[in-house]
Amino acid sequence: MSLSRTLLLRASRSRWLAEQLRRRRFARRAVRRFMPGEDADAALDAAAELRAAGMGTVLTQLGERTTRREEAEAVREHYLGLLDALGRRGLSADLSVKPTHLGLDVDRAVCERSLHRLAARAGEIGSRVWIDMEEAPYVDATLELFRRVRAEHEAVGICLQTYLRRTPADVEALLPLGPAIRLVKGAYAEPAEVAYPRKADTDRAFLALAERLLERAGEGGALPVFGTHDLGLVGRIRERAGALGLSREAWEVHMLYGIRAAEQRALTGSGVTVRVLVSYGANWFPWYMRRLAERPANLWFVARSLLPAP
Ligand code: FDA
Repeated sequence: MSLSRTLLLRASRSRWLAEQLRRRRFARRAVRRFMPGEDADAALDAAAELRAAGMGTVLTQLGERTTRREEAEAVREHYLGLLDALGRRGLSADLSVKPTHLGLDVDRAVCERSLHRLAARAGEIGSRVWIDMEEAPYVDATLELFRRVRAEHEAVGICLQTYLRRTPADVEALLPLGPAIRLVKGAYAEPAEVAYPRKADTDRAFLALAERLLERAGEGGALPVFGTHDLGLVGRIRERAGALGLSREAWEVHMLYGIRAAEQRALTGSGVTVRVLVSYGANWFPWYMRRLAERPANLWFVARSLLPAP
């Protein structure tokens, strides 16, 4: 892992830095590149624009590692309100939620109940709840949450990270559930015992797992989603899906708001189902540091934000 990536990921855990930057106008200006605004209305406006361009949306309120039960319950209530707001505005979008935001560290039962309620409500309105995958020590608990919620609701999916050495085994163990799986490369700093230190290995694992999931989708036994901006990878996945004769609805590509926007539109225009993950909220610091770590050249945009707005 590069030094800049390591430093940015380490910084992402600093509460002091988070407090400092959250108050700085230049930092808020830089963050706007990756999110339409801090409130849910801005995210819903973005969903309407994406729909007009033929794309779907996945909404996520930024936040993680909640330390109080009331806070975790407020997050659930926020998402339930968001699902209602989607109905009021005649929009449709999936949700993406972090278990630690819903209270996994505080009380696992509260987190699980919240996921059940969200998946039930999402199912009623034709949406889906995606469970994000956080740092490696949370993987077992997150998979267990997914299994329990999936046992009662169809409208739930799980994110798996291809940098983890364990993920091929996790995929095989989940396949009998007919799961919706969103593959991503992985965004955290993990030790070499659990995650590939070399990006090339992560990329290779992504393609191998993508092929496995596409084959399974061909048999009607999975909904594979590829959460990546790696267009070479998407191209290979697309070829494989074509060779298997998969329909447009059988697999999806998800990308982040503000990253490769033109390519998102081009892919949509060429017949791929694309959803854009739109993040919003005031607690953007750790998430934003991870976006910088993925592409340290993004620091240039931060530097430019220090200049007064034109
Ligand atoms: P890669 O890093 O190889 O990037 C490919 C190209 O995309 C780069 O060359 C660059 O051009 C562009 N790019 C990538 N990141 C960029 C950035 N930040 N800014 C500008 N350009 C960029 N992770 C996780 O651990 N748990 C999770 O739950 C999720 N959830 C999730 C959902 C969705 C929809 C996406 C797209 C991603 C995630 N991630 C995630 C993050 C994921 O693990 C990964 O860190 C990023 O997607 C970056 O990796 P890529 O696959 O894009 O490839």
